[in-house]
Amino acid sequence: MGASADSSWDTTWIDNEHPALRRCWHPVARSADIADDRPVAVDLLGERWCLVRLGDELAALRDPCPHRYSPLSAGTIVGDTLRCAYHGLRFAADGTCVEIPAVDPSLPIPARACATAAAGVSESLDLVWLAPEDPIAPLPEVPEHHDPSFVTCPLPPSDWNAGAAQMADNFLDLGHLPFVHLGTFGDPDDKLVRDYKMERDGWRFTAHHRHFTKALDDSMGADGEYKVVERELLFVFTAPHHVYLRIGYPEEGMVLTISFCHQPVDAATTRLYCTDYRNDIPDEPGAIADTVAFQQAVAAEDSALLQRIGTKAVPLVPALEYHSKADRITLEMRRMLADLVAEAGAEVSG
Ligand SMILES: [Fe+2]
Repeated sequence: MGASADSSWDTTWIDNEHPALRRCWHPVARSADIADDRPVAVDLLGERWCLVRLGDELAALRDPCPHRYSPLSAGTIVGDTLRCAYHGLRFAADGTCVEIPAVDPSLPIPARACATAAAGVSESLDLVWLAPEDPIAPLPEVPEHHDPSFVTCPLPPSDWNAGAAQMADNFLDLGHLPFVHLGTFGDPDDKLVRDYKMERDGWRFTAHHRHFTKALDDSMGADGEYKVVERELLFVFTAPHHVYLRIGYPEEGMVLTISFCHQPVDAATTRLYCTDYRNDIPDEPGAIADTVAFQQAVAAEDSALLQRIGTKAVPLVPALEYHSKADRITLEMRRMLADLVAEAGAEVSG
């Protein structure tokens, strides 16, 4: 059967449950939230998975037990295996069923009794990443995460009533800053988007842009008087939804990098794991809390608007939206997602 014959395979729009996203890495939890002593349930693309540390391995198994659909996340860890709470079936990290207590142990265990493991599970950027099927695009990279001259300021995860592609679109967007962010860093006179350079490399693209905003200290402080400064933006988008934004303030010699990681939970919900990295603050709880509070205020401006958009999907066909010259960056994201849908679809039909 060709991909086009499958009604779920949409090439016109992408939302959080598009099947092409099964071929991608997605964050599903903070590493610290997956303890050694019990499994945890997480939701991705409208499906539930069970994350569990078995010995040295982090396992990701489809949560419903293949036997009677009891949640494996309700099970218990026994040695290097996970035991289902309902009938005691035990599974190894790769999903292999190693014991069916109700059946004579001398009989072979059928393949049907095995749990389904994710094609990929990995820990990076203090997050657990899961790829339901063989991933097409690479994991995102954030060099500052490993750079001791930067202080890491992670925001608590937050759930948005929006699509992951819409949120990535918003964090790449250059034209909304003087409208949506007037209450934080936006400069009302910074409306015209200057020309910018973009470069695509496989499943990543970069964009360099310069613009004006309120000075960081002023925007973090109070309203009223503020100083306007020029800043340099470097965006790196990694398919399907990761946005890396490095903001350089040349006058102050400081850098603020923001990593936006999106978990497409279900069709209408996305969990955002946002982390700021700064080279100008002390590694102290108070300074980190101030940075987190400011980033939360900025994110609240975005979410208030985004959650009011009726559709939670993003069009992949340019004719479905108006695009200006200023929107080349977000148009490039749509092109890359359309390519991703095409590549994953070609493999489905091939
Ligand atoms: Fe924004």
